[in-house]
Amino acid sequence: MKEMFSTILEEIKSRGNYRTIKYYQPLSSTRIRYEGKEYLNLCSNSYLSLHTHPDVLSAAKKSIDEYGAGICSSRSVSGSIDLYEKLEKQIAQYKGYKRALIFPNGYMANIGIISTLTGSGDVIFTDELNHSSLIDAMRLSRAKKVIYKHKNTRDLEAKIQKYHSKGKNIVVTESVFSMDGDVAPLEEIYLLKKEYGLQLFLDDAHGTGVFGEKGTGVEEMCNLTGKLDVHMATFGKALGSFGAFVLSDPIFIEYLINRARTFMYTTALPPAALAASLASLSLIEEDTAYKETLWQNIDYMRQHLGEAGFDLKDSIGPIIPIVVGGDAMTLTMQELLLEKGIFLQAIRPPTVPEGSSRLRLTVVRDFTKDDMDYALEALIDTGKQMKLI
Ligand SMILES: Cc1ncc(COP(=O)(O)O)c(C=O)c1O
Repeated sequence: MKEMFSTILEEIKSRGNYRTIKYYQPLSSTRIRYEGKEYLNLCSNSYLSLHTHPDVLSAAKKSIDEYGAGICSSRSVSGSIDLYEKLEKQIAQYKGYKRALIFPNGYMANIGIISTLTGSGDVIFTDELNHSSLIDAMRLSRAKKVIYKHKNTRDLEAKIQKYHSKGKNIVVTESVFSMDGDVAPLEEIYLLKKEYGLQLFLDDAHGTGVFGEKGTGVEEMCNLTGKLDVHMATFGKALGSFGAFVLSDPIFIEYLINRARTFMYTTALPPAALAASLASLSLIEEDTAYKETLWQNIDYMRQHLGEAGFDLKDSIGPIIPIVVGGDAMTLTMQELLLEKGIFLQAIRPPTVPEGSSRLRLTVVRDFTKDDMDYALEALIDTGKQMKLI
């Protein structure tokens, strides 16, 4: 068996697709130390830099004193401490839904929700670039999976007409696509939902805290706050903590509590994660300046990368894909940037389609102008060296 695995690993290596783990030490919200050298981190999902905010840290520390380091029980047994109730109420209100339910993380939330919501006889219409957690969730569900072209509502409509079933019909999409940074045509999908009587599931992992006037997410930006059937998002990105939640009709939430296996059969989140999420949420509810500063940084980076000639695809938010193409070439660019003090990781298949390996750059609120100018110079130099621009 070992021989078989090592042959496969050698083959993966020869394609430039081998993954290794880099162990590093965080120095601040934007800096890390790796192998004794300091780097500017250009691949954090903590878009609002809240994971190091003093209020968030002190809330997490206080919760450890009050509740302990872990809960050591599933939520259905004795794990549902009152911090859960507070956070579920607050996140539901923030997002404009009647009820929320917290899951351990986004991966488990997607698996639990979709496999509970759908079964045999149902049809799931799914964007071809949906996240792996959604793909795995659909595998676990017994529903028929129908893939539509990325963000293409014409293709979606044609497929709805062809495959619409007597059972449940549900469209599943990310709001902001995690590897491309572009945004789903939610208004158009919503119209199709209405016209054909479908259910709509949105994964707003990368929209929450970033999009919309108040920053509540892509639904708000599209004037659809609270109108979808099932909305899922995470605390582990812009909110700088860990965990995930689903928002929906109270009956469906009750159903999940009783049926979703990734909710029922796992240990509750550590109190520090819940307290940190509560503190982050309060900060962004009270002050939209967090989001506004982030957008100033996004605009600055986008403008300069665009002017330099990088193809940024249709991305519009903090996720900026720099598509290189081949796996080995992307790794070379990653190494060249490391030499210049930039920590930016190559994203390769199966995370992205074959031939579209990329550096997935993310912009965060705590970047200073000097940080961004430094990053831009390194990216532009390397881009020229690699003949990307
Ligand atoms: C779109 C999307 N959905 C779900 C997840 C999973 O969330 P989590 O990291 O909390 O498991 C991620 C994060 O990787 C994501 O990008």
